[in-house]
Amino acid sequence: MTQLRSQRLNQITHEPHSRLDAAVKAQDPFSSRENFARFVQAQYLFQSELQPLYRDPALVQLFPDLPARCRAAQARDDLADLGAGVPAPVAGAPEGVSRAEALGWLFVSEGSKLGAAFLIRRVAALGLGETFGARHLGEPEGGRAEGWKTFTRLLDGLALSAEEERQADAGALAAFERFARLLQHSYATENA
Ligand code: HEM
Repeated sequence: MTQLRSQRLNQITHEPHSRLDAAVKAQDPFSSRENFARFVQAQYLFQSELQPLYRDPALVQLFPDLPARCRAAQARDDLADLGAGVPAPVAGAPEGVSRAEALGWLFVSEGSKLGAAFLIRRVAALGLGETFGARHLGEPEGGRAEGWKTFTRLLDGLALSAEEERQADAGALAAFERFARLLQHSYATENA
């Protein structure tokens, strides 16, 4: 009963995270810049789809630094660095997301910055890093661990109804499903 909300979200997404981790690795994104660009296209789409949530005034009230946390602009700059096209939107972007569902989506997007610490080390071999080609995986201002701690502290401090808790869970699961879909799409599409 004393489990924090962030811990619960972590727990219920453990399996989808493992699956996504395996799906990313199966695409071998660190084998070449071309292959990495596909991964960045998926990241760009995911971050662009979440941009309205990162800018939502009601959510910004809960997380004051929310707009600065979005990485759509960095991912777009990475695509330019890599000489890759900005992908067209993919049907099925989140729509009509409730505030509680949004918490789950944001949890996943923010949590992915933790794994990014590992990913950015791998792209160094391709001559990429946080100032070129892999900006969106870079250390956030103020530090990765600190940024995550601040986010989860605020998330865990919110008062939610049982129904809202359920929606937050659904949002987190939907976010993993969506990223998996975008990843699959990016690697299956002809590059512009
Ligand atoms: C779109 C969402 C996500 C994607 C695409 C993603 C991707 C990945 C990948 C590919 C790795 C493996 C890195 C490596 O072994 O080199 C990883 C590791 C990791 N991820 Fe994620 N992740 C996502 C969401 C999350 C979330 C929500 C959390 C935490 C709440 C998280 C926490 C971690 C941590 C701590 C690691 C380090 C290794 C581990 O403990 O397994 N990630 N992630």
